[in-house]
Amino acid sequence: MTTALCPGSFDPPTNGHIDVIGRSVSIFDEVIVAVIANPSKSPMFTNDERVEMLEGLFAKEPKVRVASFDGLLVDFAQSQGVDVIVKGLRAVSDFDYELQMAQMNHHLAAVETVFIPTSAEFGYLSSSLVKDVGRLGGLVDGLVPPLVAQLLKERWST
Ligand code: PNS
Repeated sequence: MTTALCPGSFDPPTNGHIDVIGRSVSIFDEVIVAVIANPSKSPMFTNDERVEMLEGLFAKEPKVRVASFDGLLVDFAQSQGVDVIVKGLRAVSDFDYELQMAQMNHHLAAVETVFIPTSAEFGYLSSSLVKDVGRLGGLVDGLVPPLVAQLLKERWST
């Protein structure tokens, strides 16, 4: 059985995240979606809210488990018996930093990282851009799942 770990801030989850997680599900036996509890940028949604959103989005996918972590990713990966870390790559601009992290994680714990190219239609998507667009009154439908779009609208209307 091969367990993959899809880590991220997920603040909020976008259709690009859903794409990469969904494609991981079709490759690996089990996928742990790991939400970093305290990302470096202060998040719009709390850790519990981000976990709940992802649990809702993957409620019908028995191969997916959502968890949160703090500290080193490799420590969490080892505690969960993870075989491989999965990262989505949107563009060459993602590659430099992702390569550095993959090499650091391999140095720290000999954990392998596999890159999945994000589907082209989501190549321009990021959680930060979604938040910018929505905050300024733009439509986020089609960029995030409906459940997330609804929560974003509620957040901006308060
Ligand atoms: O969605 P993001 O913000 O791009 O996710 C980044 C994340 C959470 C995957 C990355 O910041 C991370 O792995 N953080 C854990 C801390 C860690 O292990 N740092 C050393 C990795 S080289």
